[in-house]
Amino acid sequence: MRLRHRKWTDKVLLENQDIGKNLETLELDSLKQFTDLEIGSGLGSFLLSCSEKWPERKFLGVEISKNAFASAIKKASAVKDKQTNFLFLNAPIERVFPLFSDEQLTDIYINFPDPWPKKKQKSRRLTYPTRLKEYYRILKKDGTLYFRTDNIDLFMDSQEYFKEFQLFSFQVISPFYSEKTDYLPTTEYETKFREQGIDINVIIAKKKQ
Ligand SMILES: C[S@@+](CC[C@H](N)C(=O)[O-])C[C@H]1O[C@@H](n2cnc3c(N)ncnc32)[C@H](O)[C@@H]1O
Repeated sequence: MRLRHRKWTDKVLLENQDIGKNLETLELDSLKQFTDLEIGSGLGSFLLSCSEKWPERKFLGVEISKNAFASAIKKASAVKDKQTNFLFLNAPIERVFPLFSDEQLTDIYINFPDPWPKKKQKSRRLTYPTRLKEYYRILKKDGTLYFRTDNIDLFMDSQEYFKEFQLFSFQVISPFYSEKTDYLPTTEYETKFREQGIDINVIIAKKKQ
């Protein structure tokens, strides 16, 4: 997601350090409270919808792009007085994985990740078996991974990655409509793709006991 740096970015980030952190300002101990993780939280709508819907859970959104992160913080600042169960973290997820405890998370959400289509780049995909190993470690025994994409190659290959990895059972929803479920609110990218008539597919993977 390429967004330009806007004039208000630094001011908004400075004023909202309680809901938007980076690896320098994050207190490591505070990570233990989170039950739900979104990887690549983008402009933030999904995480904020979840936090409103499930106030008893604690949501962490990790986003590598500072400009997308800043937009999410701007949006979140309007609701932070009534929704107190979320945090956005500006960091690459690769730096955050080691900070989670084993079997900590109830759910992981990956919404429209980069498809990395070239052969040499495929190991960077967020559903690649090396990544599934990370999710397996940090998910609780009955934890769930929700993966949503518009990219058909990534969707087909990801099913193979789950089969190869073996330690998740999974179901596929194809095509997927977030408005027909009560567990996966829409995202900015889903709205954009839906307007363009592009099909969206979902894999829901449960950690095997
Ligand atoms: C295509 S956008 C989707 C954004 C949002 N999930 C949505 O559905 O509207 C993918 C997002 O993942 C972020 N991202 C890519 N690689 C990442 C990484 N290694 N760690 C954290 N975020 C990452 C990008 O900056 C971008 O905001």
